Amino acid sequence: MKQSAAACVIALAVAALTGCAQSPATTTPAAAASPAGAASPAGAQLPAAGTGATPAAKFAAFPCLSYTLPCGKVATRKPVAKQLEGPLAGDATRGMRIAHARDKGNCLACHVMKGGTQPGSRGPDLSHYGSTGRGDAETYAMVYDMRARIPDTLMPPFGTNAILDDQELRDVVAYLQASR
Ligand code: HEC
Repeated sequence: MKQSAAACVIALAVAALTGCAQSPATTTPAAAASPAGAASPAGAQLPAAGTGATPAAKFAAFPCLSYTLPCGKVATRKPVAKQLEGPLAGDATRGMRIAHARDKGNCLACHVMKGGTQPGSRGPDLSHYGSTGRGDAETYAMVYDMRARIPDTLMPPFGTNAILDDQELRDVVAYLQASR
């Protein structure tokens, strides 16, 4: 009994390593057939026991489970107080899409936002942010890296961690400013 459990753990570890040594593009036909599964870790659930699907390719979607990637061993990026350069030039419609997209801003995880559904409540309600009179530069800096103001914030540093690029940040700020 003990031995088979240990063997199982080793098999899993080997599967994880194999998955990471291979290119993450190596998906099973089942994963390739499902667009959601191919695009995001959310679709990378473990196959049910006995389905015969190989877990190796699926584990590759979770970098922290691999021993070959530096996940968890890279120093946290220092907070950056970022200045907005030039005029905002953001597109509010695009900004709303970016803010709501789970694989982009995912701001709805924590904020109530205009036009969004099923919001979380860890952050303040942003659905009327545009009427609070905050400037573009201040808003940009906060979304870029809130840690520059609030060191222990829950909010991810979208700019510093390159979750959103400069134009995407500008679009999101335009959307916030247009939320009245
Ligand atoms: C994990 C939770 C979380 C996510 C995701 C998140 N935020 Fe926040 N946000 C917060 C919290 C919490 C605060 C309040 C400040 C604090 O305590 O850190 C905040 C504050 C803000 C503020 C300042 C509001 C004010 O009135 O001072 C803005 C603007 C903002 N967030 C925008 C965004 C945008 C845009 C996104 C998505 C790109 C986003 N947030 C994603 C948690 C989050």
